[in-house]
Amino acid sequence: MSWVPRSQVAGASPVTIAGLGAYLPERVVTNDDLAASGLDTSDEWIRSRTGIAQRRYAAADQATSDLALEAGKAALADAGMGTDDVAAVIVATTTPDHAVPGTAPLVAAALGTEVGAFDVNAACSGFLYGLRVGSAMALVEDAPVLVIGAETLSRIVDPTDRGVAILFGDGAGAAVLVPDAAGSLGPFSLGADGRDPSMLWTATGGTRTPVSAAVLEARSHYLTMRGGDVYRNAVARMTAAANDVLQRAGRTIDDVDLFVGHQANIRILDAVAQRVGVDRDRVHLTVDQHGNTSAASVPLALADARHRGRLHPGDTVLLTAFGAGLTWGACLLTWNPDPTSDEGTA
Ligand code: UT7
Repeated sequence: MSWVPRSQVAGASPVTIAGLGAYLPERVVTNDDLAASGLDTSDEWIRSRTGIAQRRYAAADQATSDLALEAGKAALADAGMGTDDVAAVIVATTTPDHAVPGTAPLVAAALGTEVGAFDVNAACSGFLYGLRVGSAMALVEDAPVLVIGAETLSRIVDPTDRGVAILFGDGAGAAVLVPDAAGSLGPFSLGADGRDPSMLWTATGGTRTPVSAAVLEARSHYLTMRGGDVYRNAVARMTAAANDVLQRAGRTIDDVDLFVGHQANIRILDAVAQRVGVDRDRVHLTVDQHGNTSAASVPLALADARHRGRLHPGDTVLLTAFGAGLTWGACLLTWNPDPTSDEGTA
């Protein structure tokens, strides 16, 4: 039997982002810092190949839930809400505090709530997947849902691997989703291709090959990547997903006021923007300051865009992301914050 859609739920949902929050750890790590640490690289190479100037690293006593908590609290305050208003807490992360339990229950407990709390692991696309699930829950529950993207990637990169160590940073961003008849979130285009996970993965440390002395000696528990393959797939998949949501929405790129893509590499973002047909003026960039923060990158960029006055009521925003899995996604968002939110601050 093939499935026949019965409604328009695959399209845009009447949901608004009522609050945004961001948290970046204090420690700034510049390209020169990495070179000075013994990595065979240079500020010039990193800037020209990636657009990254610096990234943040969590303090030794901070884990992903600590970063997520700060971003979540900031988003709730921005929405003028308390923890009791929230019906669910979703944390998108690929660097959880522990393999078991999930990170979201720890964040919810620190916020002081016992509502449903669970993780979404779709790597760098995780926040978009979180928005998709969170918006559906907000509608069904008729209540706000807190969606957080948070990562401590500095803990899973091999500091001696120059092909990877230069790219990633730590941070967290969050959004409070609320049902709102005047709001619009979607359509979404989400996809995954798990046929070759080794393109970007931690080969060991999971149930396939648990940690052992041999694993530690081989350093295979660290993140490894075939950079060129990831690059090509990122450009192709984000472009296709962005075009797909525009087509599903019956819109064109000219209708888009701001393009907020996964901040992986400025060359990837430029290539996607060029293929989708959006000029640099409408592309928001934070990759120079944050590096690649995986699931945190899109909400951090969104919060930064709002902070810099780049989001105005009624604006159409196009979000795209791509990550390990492979996973990818895009969605449209009408920036229509709740009137109680303090627009212009972050
Ligand atoms: O969320 C998705 C996560 N992943 C990504 O976004 C990564 C996507 N890929 C990329 O961004 C790019 O492939 C990289 C930035 C990782 C690499 O850039 P590239 O232009 O593809 O360089 P390459 O891998 O082709 O390497 C060119 C040269 C090589 O030297 P040889 O073989 O030509 O002598 C590398 O060994 O650059 C060398 N290299 C470096 N040199 C200085 C690689 N990393 C570095 C480094 N500093 N950090």
